[in-house]
Amino acid sequence: MTRLLKSRKLYVSSALAGALMLAAGLYASALGEAGYVGSEKCKECHEEVAASHAKSLHSRAWAGKSGYGCESCHGPAGDHVNNPSRESIVSFGKESKQSADLQSKQCLGCHSASTSLAYWDMGFHKKEDVACSACHSIHKGDKPTVNQLETCFGCHKDIKRDANRQAHHPIIEGKVKCSDCHNPHGTLGHGMIKADNTNQLCYKCHGDKRGPFIWEHAPVEENCLVCHDPHGSKANKLLKERVPSICQDCHDLTGDSHAGTPTDSSRSSFVTGTDNKLVSRACLNCHSNIHGSNAPSSRGKEFRR
Ligand code: HEC
Ligand code: HEC
Ligand code: HEC
Ligand code: HEC
Ligand code: HEC
Ligand code: HEC
Ligand code: HEC
Ligand code: HEC
Ligand code: HEC
Ligand code: HEC
Repeated sequence: MTRLLKSRKLYVSSALAGALMLAAGLYASALGEAGYVGSEKCKECHEEVAASHAKSLHSRAWAGKSGYGCESCHGPAGDHVNNPSRESIVSFGKESKQSADLQSKQCLGCHSASTSLAYWDMGFHKKEDVACSACHSIHKGDKPTVNQLETCFGCHKDIKRDANRQAHHPIIEGKVKCSDCHNPHGTLGHGMIKADNTNQLCYKCHGDKRGPFIWEHAPVEENCLVCHDPHGSKANKLLKERVPSICQDCHDLTGDSHAGTPTDSSRSSFVTGTDNKLVSRACLNCHSNIHGSNAPSSRGKEFRR
């Protein structure tokens, strides 16, 4: 087993010879004692599936190797061929008579060494009875790759709605995938994100926001999602709320320096509503380095240019 874990490459080739048998053997007991009949037998009644399966990635990867073929996923079919029904075999999907857990175990027998599956047991999907086959199709198409927009949006309607909002990460445009940010198999941390925390995730693609800054803006350091939505929002730039409202949630400017004096052009009468020219970018007209600044003196401290 240690040998299997040493390298993924080794795992793949050994999976065929060793883990295949092991895996199928492990779950054999789920379906009685009648044992294996071999893939040839299946063709008699499932001609179409068998023909398409022959061209699939799994079938190709196993070609010429010993193993259980169809039955490495569907389990030993001795009982099934005597008494053909859905109940007498491991089947997958909504119509299946087996638990989501058992379905997933059929796959994990070979794939548990994959690093992306290391935290499967801790993920939301396993907890919510979402089996491997809810996302991966073995017989439809050549490879069991996932069409993420179709598959993920199918269950996550709220994310679909957000991703279609006026401001959004370019997910529907195909420039960013769900799996760039999430490990749908599960992670140690919250939200199944592919980083220790939200900010580390955002820095992967927005390195300029990482700093270090001499003048840090506290909420930015705390969590990007204090101001941004991750998928999409009604306000510009994925903001949870428009500027200036979002700023004013935290900064009460009534009666402060912003009232200014009419002669001080750097002060804003915007806040008091007397200077409409400033409305377009509001606070950002002056506080333009909102994520942090390295500018010297008070300009930096106040995130001004
Ligand atoms: C004698 C004919 C026969 C043989 C041989 C046979 N099956 Fe079946 N199989 C059936 C019938 C009939 C059903 C029930 C179909 C239904 O209820 O819609 C079925 C159902 C299934 C299902 C569930 C289908 C679903 O819609 O979920 C799977 C999976 C399956 N068989 C796989 C196999 C495999 C793998 C083999 C070979 C190891 C095999 N079968 C051999 C006749 C057969
Ligand atoms: C008997 C062992 C075995 C079983 C059981 C098995 N697989 Fe695989 N799987 C493999 C092998 C070997 C490959 C090819 C690996 C490669 O080429 O990197 C593969 C490839 C894959 C891939 C593509 C990997 C990639 O890198 O793109 C996916 C996804 C996958 N399997 C999902 C599943 C699912 C879902 C199930 C259960 C329904 C399952 N597998 C059952 C051995 C197995
Ligand atoms: C919620 C959807 C979802 C579920 C459930 C799911 N996967 Fe995946 N899986 C994905 C996505 C998305 C990828 C990314 C690659 C791609 O586009 O196919 C992936 C990648 C993979 C890969 C290739 C990458 C690697 O780590 O080697 C394998 C193998 C795999 N999944 C197996 C499984 C198995 C086994 C299960 C069940 C225990 C499972 N998946 C459950 C969505 C899912
Ligand atoms: C790598 C795992 C795996 C292998 C190997 C496999 N299947 Fe399947 N099978 C599945 C999954 C998962 C589904 C659910 C539908 C899908 O994912 O496409 C399924 C669905 C089915 C169905 C019912 C749905 C349909 O499309 O009619 C039948 C019948 C079936 N398989 C027969 C077979 C036969 C026969 C073989 C061998 C030639 C085989 N399977 C090999 C995983 C596998
Ligand atoms: C740019 C990165 C990114 C992309 C791309 C992305 N997400 Fe997220 N997603 C996040 C972050 C960050 C969270 C918040 C995680 C937390 O802290 O709980 C999140 C949360 C979620 C949640 C939890 C519920 C919620 O509304 O907060 C779901 C479900 C989800 N994402 C699904 C998806 C799906 C489906 C896709 C692809 C269509 C996707 N995500 C694409 C970053 C991303
Ligand atoms: C069969 C339905 C189904 C599919 C398909 C599915 N999910 Fe989920 N997902 C769920 C359920 C149920 C939960 C747990 C409840 C919730 O948070 O919505 C969940 C939870 C999540 C979470 C964590 C939510 C949190 O609260 O932290 C993320 C992230 C996520 N899914 C992403 C994805 C991605 C990415 C895909 C596509 C690769 C996907 N899901 C496909 C049903 C599904
Ligand atoms: C996988 C890479 C990736 C990750 C991770 C990522 N982003 Fe992005 N982000 C992008 C891309 C690509 C764009 C679009 C850039 C463009 O069109 O110039 C974008 C755009 C944005 C925008 C501007 C949106 C607009 O409407 O103009 C904001 C705000 C943003 N991201 C915030 C975040 C936050 C917050 C996180 C962490 C939760 C994050 N991003 C994680 C890739 C990523
Ligand atoms: C205090 C609120 C706030 C927090 C917290 C915040 N942002 Fe922003 N972000 C903004 C505002 C306001 C804009 C619009 C700036 C503009 O239009 O000039 C913006 C714009 C962006 C943009 C698009 C324009 C650009 O500057 O590239 C990205 C990307 C971005 N933020 C990423 C992040 C990341 C990553 C984090 C966490 C490290 C983060 N933001 C935290 C308020 C915030
Ligand atoms: C979640 C709360 C929060 C939001 C939202 C927020 N800030 Fe801040 N901001 C803070 C905190 C906390 C500080 C640090 C205050 C301190 O050190 O006294 C700060 C500091 C500042 C400072 C420097 C203050 C000083 O005394 O040097 C400016 C300027 C500022 N924010 C402007 C903005 C603008 C403009 C927005 C909207 C784009 C905004 N903030 C959104 C919490 C927030
Ligand atoms: C016309 C330029 C301008 C605009 C627009 C502006 N500010 Fe300022 N802001 C300043 C200047 C200049 C200072 C430094 C004032 C001082 O040193 O007394 C400042 C200081 C601050 C400070 C720190 C000192 C304090 O008074 O608490 C905060 C917080 C702040 N601004 C938030 C905001 C918010 C929120 C908005 C939008 C509602 C905004 N500003 C709009 C120019 C502006």
